[in-house]
Amino acid sequence: MKVGIIGYGITGQATASLFQDVVIYDPFKGYHDTFALNKCTLVFVCVPTPTVDGRNDLTALQTVLTELIPQLSDQIVCIRSTILPGTTRGFQQCWPQTAFAYNPEFLRGHCAFEDALKPHRVVVGADAKWIGEIVADAYRASRACIPQLIITDSITAEMIKYAANCFLAMKITYANEIFDACNALGVDYEQVRQGVSLDPRIGDSDELVVNPNSRGFRDECLPKDLDAFISFITEQGLPLQIFEVIRDINYRLLNEAPKILDKKLAEGR
Ligand SMILES: NC(=O)c1ccc[n+]([C@@H]2O[C@H](COP(=O)([O-])OP(=O)(O)OC[C@H]3O[C@@H](n4cnc5c(N)ncnc54)[C@H](O)[C@@H]3O)[C@@H](O)[C@H]2O)c1
Repeated sequence: MKVGIIGYGITGQATASLFQDVVIYDPFKGYHDTFALNKCTLVFVCVPTPTVDGRNDLTALQTVLTELIPQLSDQIVCIRSTILPGTTRGFQQCWPQTAFAYNPEFLRGHCAFEDALKPHRVVVGADAKWIGEIVADAYRASRACIPQLIITDSITAEMIKYAANCFLAMKITYANEIFDACNALGVDYEQVRQGVSLDPRIGDSDELVVNPNSRGFRDECLPKDLDAFISFITEQGLPLQIFEVIRDINYRLLNEAPKILDKKLAEGR
């Protein structure tokens, strides 16, 4: 199956590496051929969706869809960029002649290719069964080693992405709070971490490792996705509390880091 990749950055390149027959479109990187996208069965859209003023900014995605959809024939447009619940349905209403799907990416930026090749799961969100099946078929035929392939509707897939990233943010924040409690009580956090991680309900993961010189989370995705989700649930009028608490604790952790470093330097450690 020939697939198109729109946006050839971290997510786009990792996605492209899974398929044999790939057409790339990213004018910022010298890939200008929109005509070749017409030969694809589906096109994956992997352009940035930064959080601007606390909101999931869809400018690049909307630009791409507005420019390219009139040039496509019957390709499925499968969005990989992180988007809030309901966004794919909004696009579907805007462009009713085009079939949309949402397929979240869960990779870590520093090992994007390995994570794409060995995902924990692949989630395909589509509001028509045939659309989900074609995207799923593309993955079944891909190089990826997929232990679980889940097909949902689009809003569920969008929710899975935010639920996962907000949970990872919470896990990091939680680990840092336990780390502080251990320090205050003279307890070795590493031993606590090991003792806790052996419980399969909790599990061992990088999120539980606390680096005293680089606390909290600051990578590309977690802060932006948490901020966007907080704005989203606020707009929805949902009285959810945990997300703002995670953000507040993380803000404190990021700002406390130099103090901890200074304390260590002052103590000559
Ligand atoms: N990087 C990660 O670890 C990661 C993980 C999961 C999900 N995501 C999501 O994937 C999406 C892309 O992130 P990324 O890290 O790959 O971004 P990136 O900045 O690495 O790549 C984005 C690419 O899109 C291209 N682009 C921008 N505007 C375009 C346009 N109008 N037409 C065609 N190409 C265009 C850019 O030139 C760039 O090559 C985001 O929504 C992000 O949240 C990223």
